[in-house]
Amino acid sequence: MITGRAKLGIIGCGKMAGAMLARWLDCGALAPGDVVACTGSDASAAAVAARFGIACGTDAQAVVADAATVLLAVKPQLRAGVVAALQPRPEQLWLSVLAGVTTTTLELALPGAQVIRLMPNTPVRLGHGLVALTPGLTAQPDAIATARALLAPLGTVVDVTEGHVDAFTAVAGSGPAYVFLFLEALTAGGIAQGLEPATAALLAQETLLGSALLAQAAGRPPVELRAEVTSKGGMTQAALNVFDDRQWSQTVTDAVAAAVGRAAELARG
Ligand SMILES: NC(=O)c1ccc[n+]([C@@H]2O[C@H](COP(=O)([O-])OP(=O)(O)OC[C@H]3O[C@@H](n4cnc5c(N)ncnc54)[C@H](OP(=O)(O)O)[C@@H]3O)[C@@H](O)[C@H]2O)c1
Repeated sequence: MITGRAKLGIIGCGKMAGAMLARWLDCGALAPGDVVACTGSDASAAAVAARFGIACGTDAQAVVADAATVLLAVKPQLRAGVVAALQPRPEQLWLSVLAGVTTTTLELALPGAQVIRLMPNTPVRLGHGLVALTPGLTAQPDAIATARALLAPLGTVVDVTEGHVDAFTAVAGSGPAYVFLFLEALTAGGIAQGLEPATAALLAQETLLGSALLAQAAGRPPVELRAEVTSKGGMTQAALNVFDDRQWSQTVTDAVAAAVGRAAELARG
């Protein structure tokens, strides 16, 4: 494995790479001196350097030249322009979080590099994320092992085939947005019934968190846990009837399908 002066080079240090980097630095997996990065402007580069204490500029090739492993995290629509100007080092490990960009596309654009496609979600920030890992044909076992070791502090790493990356993304990548939407709605419901906004927000957040932890610990299907909260003719049943009447479960299924459909559209350009 090639080693540069920096362990990790980040091309595009915005919301996603920033969440990953914050976790690596917080848990001590990486030190600021291990990381070099670049962004699209001097102003954002200075902000990233100040926030994380890392070296950050706007020269992507300098990052490539300096880093053992490269994390590519620009917006997918910028990929072609950014990558075309770069020369990977032979066998350099490249990790890409770009939605909708396949390992085949990346391998064609990055000759000689070992490519692994990732799909993280933003709870990686706290080490409670999910990361899909999809190695390209060029990725050798030691490169995959290096990637796994780097990703371990971010949360749960799931091996996902190229054909299932969009489904993974529609559930886990976009999923935090659905959960936050439910959080907003449950909070609004509490406020509508007279709770103070801060109290309603706390109740909604702790209910979501506690329920997720319970589901994980119980190891039983959520339908059973739901039944335990639902007495016939009681308050919960009255609320669930409204969800049923408005086809809430089907709405969520349709929303996931819409995300996958949009991925296909984006892939067609
Ligand atoms: N956000 C998520 O939840 C999420 C989840 C999974 C995957 N992803 C993937 O993560 C990638 C980044 O998304 P994001 O939400 O983090 O976007 P973002 O916040 O806009 O970050 C993009 C970063 O790329 C930088 N950049 C722009 N042009 C550049 C250039 N020519 N050279 C180097 N860096 C450049 C931007 O700098 P400036 O600020 O100066 O423009 C910014 O630092 C996308 O491909 C997306 O599919 C995101």
